[in-house]
Amino acid sequence: MENIITVVMAAGKGTRMKSNKSKLVHKIYEKELVTRVIDLAESIGSDEIIAVVGHQREQVQAVIGNRAKYAIQEELLGTGHALMQAAPYLEGKKGKVVILYGDVPLIRKETLEKLINKSIKQKECATLLTAIYENPTGYGRILRDTVGRIIGIVEEKDASEEERKIKEINSGIYCFDIEELLKAIKEIKPNNAQGEYYLTDVIKIMNENDLKTGAMIVEDNTEILGVNDKVQLELLTRVLRMRINTTHMKSGVTIEDSDSTYIHDDVIIGKDTIIHPNTTIKSGVVIGDNCEIGPNAYIREGCKLDNNVKIGSFVEIKKTIVGEGSKVPHLSYMGDCEIGKHVNIGCGTITCNYDGQNKNKTIIGDNCFIGSNTNLIAPVKIGDNAFIAAGSTITEDVPKDSLAIARERQTNKEGWNKK
Ligand code: UD1
Ligand code: CA
Repeated sequence: MENIITVVMAAGKGTRMKSNKSKLVHKIYEKELVTRVIDLAESIGSDEIIAVVGHQREQVQAVIGNRAKYAIQEELLGTGHALMQAAPYLEGKKGKVVILYGDVPLIRKETLEKLINKSIKQKECATLLTAIYENPTGYGRILRDTVGRIIGIVEEKDASEEERKIKEINSGIYCFDIEELLKAIKEIKPNNAQGEYYLTDVIKIMNENDLKTGAMIVEDNTEILGVNDKVQLELLTRVLRMRINTTHMKSGVTIEDSDSTYIHDDVIIGKDTIIHPNTTIKSGVVIGDNCEIGPNAYIREGCKLDNNVKIGSFVEIKKTIVGEGSKVPHLSYMGDCEIGKHVNIGCGTITCNYDGQNKNKTIIGDNCFIGSNTNLIAPVKIGDNAFIAAGSTITEDVPKDSLAIARERQTNKEGWNKK
């Protein structure tokens, strides 16, 4: 396997985010933009990851930690200049370098792998990921000769009227030969409308030196969307939502309303499970076959639901394991809980799992019936086949097969209201 180094450009300012936080630490489904890009870099098997950081770099580095090495760009003098800062890490190395942007988080791993494979197979010194845009405004345009070979990239601000009509745009994602890139970036000059060192100039430089360059047109344009403001952040969240939901539907999950179903990354859902609207399922949750979730359900981190489970409306569950055939049909909070098989949790049941300092566990055996509006004060254990009377506040363990009633007895004062 060829050595692969990935450089993540993460020095830019995010002025249009109108935020005190770095653009790159804004999140899509609870994961920072830049973390998504680092995940991607790792997923393609990068031997080394270098993040070029600058603006608000403490925040960016705090999020990336030791998953990357850092090159610092003190002054933002362009994408070519950014790469020059990473050059010391590339010196003396062979193989390919992949360039990613910290604010372009939705590229598919498969797309990058295709790009790298094309670059290796066709022995290209530069392989660009390009796209066809009906409205290419703002992007660098791809220049090709009469036989279709890539000869350069021209930035919008430097383009002639004719060049601006070109619909093939530069995504900013590339795969380069390390040694040839190092040679080419030394020749970049800031002679352009913005006075910047353009990384895009290396294409022309390589062509002048008779080095082979090429491009791969991305099939799904949403992959190369970037985030510059909070409207785009919402757009990318939507794109990811549809992508994740589609994957689940294609593997047999019924989703009634994709627009209001928020399934985070790395969720596993079995066949014939139905998800009703306004449901959020957090990352890492595992749901079995034939379950019914929602409407208005919130399945948080650490939950594992066996087959035939029902989690109904206005139910929040966290770090809870639900056994086969059990039901939490309405208005409940179950946290740090283990629920056995064929349990019915009545409406309004709450695990009081937090004592102000610690989170405590509730364990409920098989075939239990928990009456409506029960408070389970954790830590507490309910044995198999136990029955809890509605309205109980359970503070002590309940032995198996028993009935627990823990509430004030009712007194009726007859005729009271007439006095
Ligand atoms: C760049 C490309 C353009 C392409 C577009 C795609 C150049 C000269 N142009 O445009 O052809 O269509 O991306 O989005 O490369 N960055 C730094 N340091 C810098 C400048 C930028 O780290 O000094 C980072 C930014 O944070 C960002 C990325 O590089 O993640 C791209 O920068 P941006 O200014 O958005 O791209 P353009 O130069 O406008
Ligand atoms: Ca941009």
